[in-house]
Amino acid sequence: MWKKIPGTKDILPEEAYSWQKIEELTRRIFSLYNYQEIRPPIIEEESLFNRSLGKNTEIVRKQMFVIRNKEDLYALRPEGTASIVRAYIENNLDKQMSFRKFYYLGPMFRLERPQKGRLRQFHHIGCEAIGSSDADLDVELISLADKILEGLSIADYQIQLNSLGCAKDKATLTKILQKELKAKTKKLCPDCQNRFKTNTLRVLDCKKETCQEIIRKLNLQDTHLCSECKLHFAKVKAGLDLLGVNYEVIPYLVRGLDYYTRTVFEIKHPALGAQDALAAGGRYDNLVRELGGPDVGAMGFAFGMERLLLVRNQKPETRSQNLVYIISLGEEAKKESLKLLAELRQNGIPADTDYEGKSLKGALRAANDLGVRYVLIIGENELKKNVVTLKDMTSGEQREIKQTELISYLTERLHKVP
Ligand code: HAM
Repeated sequence: MWKKIPGTKDILPEEAYSWQKIEELTRRIFSLYNYQEIRPPIIEEESLFNRSLGKNTEIVRKQMFVIRNKEDLYALRPEGTASIVRAYIENNLDKQMSFRKFYYLGPMFRLERPQKGRLRQFHHIGCEAIGSSDADLDVELISLADKILEGLSIADYQIQLNSLGCAKDKATLTKILQKELKAKTKKLCPDCQNRFKTNTLRVLDCKKETCQEIIRKLNLQDTHLCSECKLHFAKVKAGLDLLGVNYEVIPYLVRGLDYYTRTVFEIKHPALGAQDALAAGGRYDNLVRELGGPDVGAMGFAFGMERLLLVRNQKPETRSQNLVYIISLGEEAKKESLKLLAELRQNGIPADTDYEGKSLKGALRAANDLGVRYVLIIGENELKKNVVTLKDMTSGEQREIKQTELISYLTERLHKVP
């Protein structure tokens, strides 16, 4: 018997309904902000991620699912931003409209050690706005993430905010860090001792308590920011204040991907434990140019779908109460039920029947388990009188109804499927 690969999940129908609800809500909110859906492939040239995320990042060094095909090296996408920037450049989308807003939903792949909230195949709900360096865009994106959480009735989260500054500022921040950490390198974990040499900023992102203790004591301010980046960050904060979006500035917040510049943010939730980021994102003002596109600013973020579901902490929702279930008794009635099923569905009324030859009692139990709203019983008696017996499963009430009146009766009481 085969089992799924560790770190992957079967999203069973009971759960899939909750996924659909979240997807519907986020699609609606993205449309409200004028973001359009984009669906790039889940497989790309490996070098795209190497180049955009940074060859010294954990994701590229350790977590990519790489596929070798003769001379070609492909990778299952570990995230969406790089693909979307690639698609934006390759399809000349900037030539049609200089500023574009995209959203996407779909699976991402990272070869991680699986644990609660950390999977090898997980799903992003994300968005990218490409073609602007306006600080108000940062405000829009962060408040959009906030709106999604509000729409999903998720509370108690914290928006953490920081500015890394432009490329020059990031280099300054790296120097400041190297100076501050130099005397303490021996106390850092082995990974961070390595990061100190290859990608110093990443030390700030270490989850180990021993490193965190050192990091929290660092005297990091915004001194690495140039005057333009300082002004940009001030505008972002003022815009969020204006919209009443709560946030906290965390001076040691950096991100695990190299492409970020200026604003970065993470949304944390205490219910997630060690893997506490519900969403993350930021500006990547140099990435489009670095991948061969125009010199334009851009920003995006992504929610981890599985983590949204974890913090929503609701019982799986079922699509109950909007289904008609036909039970036929005898061969003639079965033929009639086949016709009736087709007619109901033709009229947009969700309907089903028993295909297992169950007794009346068994079929009623099945209908009950499905949580259907109405059961229609057709037997010899009903056939003779051109009626069906209609049982309201909520009230338990049972009555005969003429076949000719059935569709209009049900249409008034059930949600039609368009
Ligand atoms: P990220 O922080 O790597 O950013 O991922 C975003 C979110 O995806 C995380 O906050 C988390 O909720 C979820 N996530 C990440 N890894 C896993 C995993 N192994 N299992 C379950 N959930 C996970 C990015 O990927 C950026 N592309 C976000 C972005 C978009 N920045 C700009 N635009």
